[in-house]
Amino acid sequence: MVTGRTKTFVDGFDEALSGGIPGNKIVLIKGSTGTMKSSLAYYILSKNASAGKNSLYITFEQDRKSLEQQMSSLGFMDTKGENLLHIFDLSKGKERLEELSEKIRKMGEDGSVASQGGKRQDLVISLLRRKIDEMRDRMGFELVVIDSLDGLHLVMNPENARVSMFEFFEWMRRAGLTCLVVCEESLESSDPKGPEIHYEDFLADGIIELRMEPINNIDIQRRIRCVKMRGTNHSTDYYSFFYDGSGFEIAKAIST
Ligand SMILES: Nc1ncnc2c1ncn2[C@@H]1O[C@H](COP(=O)(O)OP(=O)(O)OP(=O)(O)O)[C@@H](O)[C@H]1O
Ligand SMILES: [Mg+2]
Repeated sequence: MVTGRTKTFVDGFDEALSGGIPGNKIVLIKGSTGTMKSSLAYYILSKNASAGKNSLYITFEQDRKSLEQQMSSLGFMDTKGENLLHIFDLSKGKERLEELSEKIRKMGEDGSVASQGGKRQDLVISLLRRKIDEMRDRMGFELVVIDSLDGLHLVMNPENARVSMFEFFEWMRRAGLTCLVVCEESLESSDPKGPEIHYEDFLADGIIELRMEPINNIDIQRRIRCVKMRGTNHSTDYYSFFYDGSGFEIAKAIST
């Protein structure tokens, strides 16, 4: 079980988090499109890899090539830590997971995964858990990114996604994993799907919000804030969030 904190390596932000993200926690990285959610998640893993920590990045959205191209353009492909950051490409997740689940169904009615409830959403989570377990046995990581929850939702049957996800988060905590879950936040202030869709906010132990803030009628500035982090005395302020050419840093945001 991991008890230490995982540093974000965002200059100034770890201090605002009392040292970083606590171990065995599920933390959402939430924001609208283009707010650099994936970049931040990848940056945290790459910096931790450079510090000798193994990690796994599960991508349901961008494929490995596109992800690596972008991270390389940002200078996040650290050669020292490269072989400690593992990418599991499920960008064609639906096809790949359906293919796998079909094979398992064919294994017979009493096949271990097929008999775990029979619901499709449980099957997807069971397959994912198996795969994470199997990869962890080989690679020994404690830090996982899921990019994104919305991508995972597309693969799952949305019915009872909340229950399945609750169990999945519980399983990850028990397995001693610290998990960063990237989440798309609608640009619309009133979400027609209602509050049910935001169940992840209270299932998660922490939320880091990224946003783009208009500072006048032309300029936009990136912002970051820790909305919640269980077990942590943290700042809830918005900070300006900068990419400085090789990494991220924060500065006190000036009220507009
Ligand atoms: N080399 C770079 N230098 C500076 N900024 C960059 C660079 N590459 C990408 N960006 C910025 O990062 C943004 C994309 O970041 P990222 O893909 O992490 O966002 P995201 O929040 O994950 O988006 P999505 O919702 O599409 O998944 C781009 O729109 C651009 O503003
Ligand atoms: Mg992304």
